[in-house]
Amino acid sequence: MTADLHFPARVLFGRGVLDRVGPLARGWSEHALVVTDRGMPATGLVDRVTDGLRAAGVEPIVYDGVTPNPTIAQVEAGLEAGAGRGIGVIVSVGGGSAHDCAKTIALVAANGGEVRDYEGFDRSPHRALPCIAVNTTSGSGADVSRYAVITDPGRSLKMIIADAHLTPRLAVNDPLTTVGLPSAVTMATGLDALTHAIEAYVSTAASQVTDLFALRAIELAVADLPRAVRDGADLEARDGMMLAALLAGLAIDSASVGAVHALAHQLGAVYDLPHGVCNGILLPVVCEFNQPASTERYARVAAIVGGGRGGRPLRALLRALGDRVGLPRGLAELGVERSALPDLAARALDDMCMQTNPRPMRHADIVACYERAL
Ligand SMILES: NC(=O)c1ccc[n+]([C@@H]2O[C@H](COP(=O)([O-])OP(=O)(O)OC[C@H]3O[C@@H](n4cnc5c(N)ncnc54)[C@H](O)[C@@H]3O)[C@@H](O)[C@H]2O)c1
Ligand SMILES: [Fe+2]
Repeated sequence: MTADLHFPARVLFGRGVLDRVGPLARGWSEHALVVTDRGMPATGLVDRVTDGLRAAGVEPIVYDGVTPNPTIAQVEAGLEAGAGRGIGVIVSVGGGSAHDCAKTIALVAANGGEVRDYEGFDRSPHRALPCIAVNTTSGSGADVSRYAVITDPGRSLKMIIADAHLTPRLAVNDPLTTVGLPSAVTMATGLDALTHAIEAYVSTAASQVTDLFALRAIELAVADLPRAVRDGADLEARDGMMLAALLAGLAIDSASVGAVHALAHQLGAVYDLPHGVCNGILLPVVCEFNQPASTERYARVAAIVGGGRGGRPLRALLRALGDRVGLPRGLAELGVERSALPDLAARALDDMCMQTNPRPMRHADIVACYERAL
């Protein structure tokens, strides 16, 4: 086996771990920049974090201008909010959008220059400011990953920064923070986690180590996502989904993702659609395309998704799961036009995530996948 494995430094997992953020942040600094999105203050979770910071002797400054699919301008606004305030630690509160914005703020604050300078692989010379990622969705894995996805509206592009310096020094996964997630967000974020697990399992960079994480994450997501969508207060399902997202995040940190993400990123950049919804719709058709390149692995995925009952193709099993959790049936419903597909496909060809897809894709293959997902 050959493998290039990346792991975060420290992860707290379990009901109640949110209360440990303040004292741990104090180990780095007396001044924290708290980065969160516009919807988060209403949940009360930002106040819980800032109260905990103050009680531990850390003065928080809150930047709450992040939106889903965070932009370069939001990173710049966050940098501005913290400038000259002696910030020694950055605490993100939210899902992948808050974490990616915070991680990029921390990278640029320590290295200088522009956000675009860091697009690609390992472009920063220095470690980022320490980041604590307080995760309140069960999906992106951004709390444990070395990736940040930042939208550059000028280029209609979801820019990928892959840099070992981006990984938060501490990830905080408290399933109790996800109890108030609306079912549509539970569905979208959970399908993102499932997509991570499946794409990491069939990735050209997969190894026996990432397989362990990926396979368990698929099992957990298939069992617990429908339950969590049906009843957000089902704590066992919330525990299971947060663990699924964590394990899937650990898997993609080393094995990366594939064509589902490459195609989904273009829809996020051009139409500003939720990342997990795009992944959920594209996953069945991309699996069907990839299957001949990795027959045994997809058969194993189908056995898990189908609950051990053989027979039905993976595409149909994934569609049925999507129906159970309320996923829209196609991209047309979300406003994606057939005429846009050739341009989206050209953009997807250049996406970094394509590099680890198990089956090479040509432009015509990508257009065909988008069409099947319409
Ligand atoms: N860096 C990575 O490795 C990585 C991997 C996958 C996806 N991503 C990126 O992450 C982003 C998506 O992240 P996400 O799916 O976690 O969603 P998100 O961060 O965009 O959050 C979605 C919505 O959920 C709300 N929300 C979050 N927690 C809540 C809670 N506990 N209660 C109520 N509402 C809550 C937010 O306010 C927001 O409106 C995308 O931009 C995607 O590209 C990054
Ligand atoms: Fe994702």
